Amino acid sequence: MPGFSAKYSQMVMPDHINIVGTLFGGQMIAWVDLAAAKVAFRFLKGADIDGAVTRAIDKVEFKEPVYLGDWVNFTATVISSGSTSFRIEVEAHAEGRHMDPRLACVATVVMVAVKKDPDGNYIKTTHGKTC
Ligand SMILES: CC(C)(COP(=O)(O)OP(=O)(O)OC[C@H]1O[C@@H](n2cnc3c(N)ncnc32)[C@H](O)[C@@H]1OP(=O)(O)O)[C@@H](O)C(=O)NCCC(=O)NCCS
Repeated sequence: MPGFSAKYSQMVMPDHINIVGTLFGGQMIAWVDLAAAKVAFRFLKGADIDGAVTRAIDKVEFKEPVYLGDWVNFTATVISSGSTSFRIEVEAHAEGRHMDPRLACVATVVMVAVKKDPDGNYIKTTHGKTC
């Protein structure tokens, strides 16, 4: 895998469907966030931090509908890093029994490394990582 990247997959189950019979967008965003969290975990290994939180989800685009029973295969890649933050591009390809795999959703997620302060609050901290 070039750079820092991670794969994550989910199957679309009945609970994930909206009233027009396709995958609910909010569910897709939750999975995008999880895919980003997976690559963040990898990117931050060894850093002196307590975790990372999502600061922003930008440029979410739902390009194709996704259907019950489809697999949604996510690829999350760290595309840039700052002092406490880093930017992740997530692509979600839907794979159905009767359709070719297709790019269903793209988004950019900004995560920030955090550390617990003496009061128990998580505050931003430098991660010291580059990509
Ligand atoms: C994330 C958090 C700790 C950041 O603390 P903060 O004091 O607000 O930090 P800043 O505004 O200085 O931003 C921190 C970094 O994020 C970047 N950033 C902030 N807002 C951004 C945005 N909308 N888009 C891109 N980058 C952004 C800043 O440029 C900075 O990057 P750098 O340190 O790499 O230069 C705080 O905002 C927070 O706790 N937010 C809630 C997080 C949360 O609950 N997420 C959902 C659950 S995971």
